[in-house]
Amino acid sequence: MKILVYEKLIFERIYSPVNKKHIKTFEPNPENINRKVNPTERRYNRIAPFYDLMEWVTERSVFQTWRNDLWSRVPPGKVLEVGVGTGKNIPYYPKGADVTAIDLSEGMLTKAKEREKSLEVKVDLKHMDVQSLSFPDNTFDTAVATFVFCSVPLPVRGLQELNRVVKSSGDIWLLEHVRINKPLIGSLMDAANPLIVRMMGANINRRTVENIKNSGLQIVNVESLKGDLVKLIHIRA
Ligand SMILES: C[S@@+](CC[C@H](N)C(=O)[O-])C[C@H]1O[C@@H](n2cnc3c(N)ncnc32)[C@H](O)[C@@H]1O
Repeated sequence: MKILVYEKLIFERIYSPVNKKHIKTFEPNPENINRKVNPTERRYNRIAPFYDLMEWVTERSVFQTWRNDLWSRVPPGKVLEVGVGTGKNIPYYPKGADVTAIDLSEGMLTKAKEREKSLEVKVDLKHMDVQSLSFPDNTFDTAVATFVFCSVPLPVRGLQELNRVVKSSGDIWLLEHVRINKPLIGSLMDAANPLIVRMMGANINRRTVENIKNSGLQIVNVESLKGDLVKLIHIRA
């Protein structure tokens, strides 16, 4: 009798309408997303107060030039910035653009809000996960993310969401550090990755170009900056 009850429970779990929906659409289980997202958010909340200081040298020496270059290619219109962090891209937003900027970490968003205020730029800042965006389909003309897909737990899922919310033939621009595809240095990056993720929240061995291809998005151009370590990627939605 007990066995029959268990069998019934298992049958209902597998064949319930909710599960059928998941099987049909291949949506990841939201519970799994949450389980993976929380440590990322916690890490960025922890480093938010020191983030700008930690990046001070690289920001001044190279990042500013790359940000300027990326944003000079973005036309004004409805723009989504994903993973706004402390708001380092805000000074480069195109004049007249209607920018919505999201981040997973409240700590980083607090810093971005401070920067928005001090620069007197109007940005619609929202606490949101790129893996499950609450915007309707075809909302934005352009989406931008700088150094974000190294820390998104399910990057392919996040890229698919960008594809959904950016209008057809709209542009997606990514500036990302990636795994260097050389045997020795690639293996060293793999070995160091678990420690770096725990300390900084970012994976140093992400294969972002491959992830973009796996998400079904169309790559227009990949530009290598700093050897093969950093890529400026232009994608068409
Ligand atoms: C390395 S920081 C880069 C911040 C900023 N884009 C910059 O260029 O300085 C990565 C940012 O992505 C955010 N992030 C990570 N996973 C995310 C997700 N799933 N959805 C939205 N933001 C996310 C983090 O909270 C963090 O603020």
